[in-house]
Amino acid sequence: MKKFMAMLLILVMVFSLAACSSDSKESDGNPTIGVTIYKYDDNFMSFVRRAIETAAVDKAVLEMNDSQNSQATQNDQVDTMISKGAKALAINLVDPQAASAIIEKAKKADLPVVFFNKEPETSVLASYDKAWYVGTASAEAGVIQGELIANGWKANPDWDRNGDGVMSYVLLKGEPGHPDAEARTKYAVETVVAAGIAVEELELQTGMWDSVKGKELMDAWIAKHGDAIEMVICNNDGMALGAIQSLNAAGYFNDGKYMPVVGVDAIPDALEQIKEGKMAGTVLNDAKNQGGATFDLALNVANGKDPLDGTSWTLDAGKAVRVPYVAVTIDNITFAEEAYK
Ligand code: BGC
Repeated sequence: MKKFMAMLLILVMVFSLAACSSDSKESDGNPTIGVTIYKYDDNFMSFVRRAIETAAVDKAVLEMNDSQNSQATQNDQVDTMISKGAKALAINLVDPQAASAIIEKAKKADLPVVFFNKEPETSVLASYDKAWYVGTASAEAGVIQGELIANGWKANPDWDRNGDGVMSYVLLKGEPGHPDAEARTKYAVETVVAAGIAVEELELQTGMWDSVKGKELMDAWIAKHGDAIEMVICNNDGMALGAIQSLNAAGYFNDGKYMPVVGVDAIPDALEQIKEGKMAGTVLNDAKNQGGATFDLALNVANGKDPLDGTSWTLDAGKAVRVPYVAVTIDNITFAEEAYK
């Protein structure tokens, strides 16, 4: 009997604690939104995460998850968020191909889902009326980066180090299969060629968006090609920063020895390199607005409203909000600095 009473007491305590904690969440009337970031250890995504967290203050309870670059981990996190009562999901996929698996889970729970940064295929997004995407038009960054390169090449004849009229470049690519990496690689080079510049690809390999990998590849390429390299094209600033470290160590940016390096994102560390004259330019990937739009849409649908309710975002035919990219050089650096504040 004593045992029974003790068990009863424990049960009563557990239930009242559970009631308290859910009350405290719901007392302010704010919905819970389940968020995953493909990995916290990604420079650019840390700014998107910050933007989501800032936007959520006093409006929603965020269940924020680091998927640690594992789709299996992310799938489990989605299950947990659903069972914990999330009213909407905001998902930065690990693997862009996994969108359909996430949609299946959301559908079963009748939950809306906003994907961001890693774009699912249009047909997959179209397969669920409660799924949307927030990101960019991937190709745009490539075109803008290509224009930056072409303008710089034409304005600085000494960038053609051996004077053969051909731009010999190395290219640090992001994650293969990532729509941003594929489109940036393709369109950056195509835009340079379309501007009438002959090119030679010395190296093209993936640095997986990562600074350390970018440095390692650049070390190897400098050892192999030396001064034959005339342009370093990077799918993101993280890898550009790694390449610059490697170039610094090899004596570049000293005694008039220069190498044009271009990136994408305009993260604060890259803007510093532009100011120091070590990066020719980058392309603003607007983390603040992408994070803000992701949250706005997720909050609206969590509250059962139209995704665009009360916002100035627009959806294209593929149910995507596309935040524009902007070219950044030393000439408009303050604008880029403001964008990341
Ligand atoms: C950014 C990269 C980032 C990647 C993550 C891209 O849009 O430019 O810096 O690593 O997204 O998915």
